[in-house]
Amino acid sequence: MAGYVVVGTQWGDEGKGKIIDVLADKADYVVRFQGGNNAGHTVVVNGEKFILKLLPSGVLHAGTCIIGPGVVVDPKVFLDEIASLEKRGSKTDHVIISDRAHVIMPYHIKLDEIRENVEDRIKIGTTKKGIGPCYADKISRDGIRMADLLDLKQFEEKLRMNLKEKNELFTKIYKVEALDFDTIFEEYKGYIEKIKHRIVDTIPIVNKALNENKLVLFEGAQAMMLDINYGTYPYVTSSSPTLAGVTTGAGVSPRKIDKGIGVMKAYTTRVGEGPFVTEIHGEFGEKIRKIGYEYGAVTGRPRRCGWLDLVVGRYATEINGLTDVVITKIDVLSGLGKLKICVAYEIDGKIYNYVPADTQSLYRAKPIYEELDGWDEDITQIKNYKDLPENCKKYLKRIEEIIECPISVVSVGPDRNQNIHIREI
Ligand code: GDP
Ligand code: IMO
Ligand code: MG
Repeated sequence: MAGYVVVGTQWGDEGKGKIIDVLADKADYVVRFQGGNNAGHTVVVNGEKFILKLLPSGVLHAGTCIIGPGVVVDPKVFLDEIASLEKRGSKTDHVIISDRAHVIMPYHIKLDEIRENVEDRIKIGTTKKGIGPCYADKISRDGIRMADLLDLKQFEEKLRMNLKEKNELFTKIYKVEALDFDTIFEEYKGYIEKIKHRIVDTIPIVNKALNENKLVLFEGAQAMMLDINYGTYPYVTSSSPTLAGVTTGAGVSPRKIDKGIGVMKAYTTRVGEGPFVTEIHGEFGEKIRKIGYEYGAVTGRPRRCGWLDLVVGRYATEINGLTDVVITKIDVLSGLGKLKICVAYEIDGKIYNYVPADTQSLYRAKPIYEELDGWDEDITQIKNYKDLPENCKKYLKRIEEIIECPISVVSVGPDRNQNIHIREI
């Protein structure tokens, strides 16, 4: 028992929520370490669907759920999510928030919305939840932290200082209305009353648990290719969703991390703007979207669909130091005929086995594919690896060979129980 990290290996929505829920059964703690309510993690229990944005996906289990120091928290979303879970009969007493986590304020959301629509700026296709502007304030040392909310005087001062500058931006640069200090202050005072008992220093809690050999599950949101340092910049999110994010986002030494578990969809999807080398345009892409029900859990936007990209797969394996891979949604590939796996890119006549830094060059990249035979059987009820169609096993084997990392679990449907366990995680 120890520190296990679950991360997305593509552009998000790989099924991390489902896998966290499966693993959380035996976990003592589940810790979110980055991102905010830009995440949408789906958990399905006996046909009942839960979409978790900010709360860790382990919340339906008994282990303590922690919103870690590296997360950005919109208190309204937090309280709404807690209320909606309680209404459905789930307990939430075991959810706590780090006093170091930064707070998303209304001006962050407003800025995110405005910047997405300014003509001369690059459109990222963000979730418009204020994530980027909140992280920007954190890095520029203007941010408001959960600890500040516990001291109203301090909160008032920081809010006043921030709002003054943001309102200048709103009125003078973007020519929109200013936000009102009193309205925000009163609104947030109400939230503070409701969340203050959950705000604690989570660092000693997590480290003590790891020192006592408890199982701590770190839940990544977003994914490899949305990482601020290593993704398709600037079409990325504003945090570090890779395994390294745990050390800065949860306050844990890398030496305490035992497993890096990468969740990989059997094909690829992406929401928002940015290059996508293996994207399938037209009818076939739509067919995958329909079968896989590929619509954003948070925004409802249709997800762009494409073949499995193992240039990205290898990159994710390396940068995260993955020990295990979980393949999800392979059931969606049943009956699609021949399947393709991208093994390299050709850009301006040169072959690439890795993801180049020049994001613009990815728009010119031609995928080099290996073609594999598909299968027609419905595999959604299969529990043992040996019962999978031979071509499905070949598809999985080929992934393992190319990324050089073992596949431990294969997910064949959205429900908690639709899994094939190949080796113990
Ligand atoms: P996350 O953001 O990585 O947690 O993934 P999302 O929840 O945004 O998107 C994954 C979607 O696929 C959700 O609707 C899940 O219920 C669903 N899902 C997860 N695993 C499987 C699977 O193995 N097969 C199928 N058909 N659906 C799955
Ligand atoms: P989960 O955890 C898929 C994408 C947005 C946009 C970019 C930046 O469910 O896998 P942001 O609002 O973060 O500034 O948007 O990142 N994005 C995601 N795409 N899954 C997610 O989370 C995402 N979180 C952000 O669509 O392209
Ligand atoms: Mg999602």
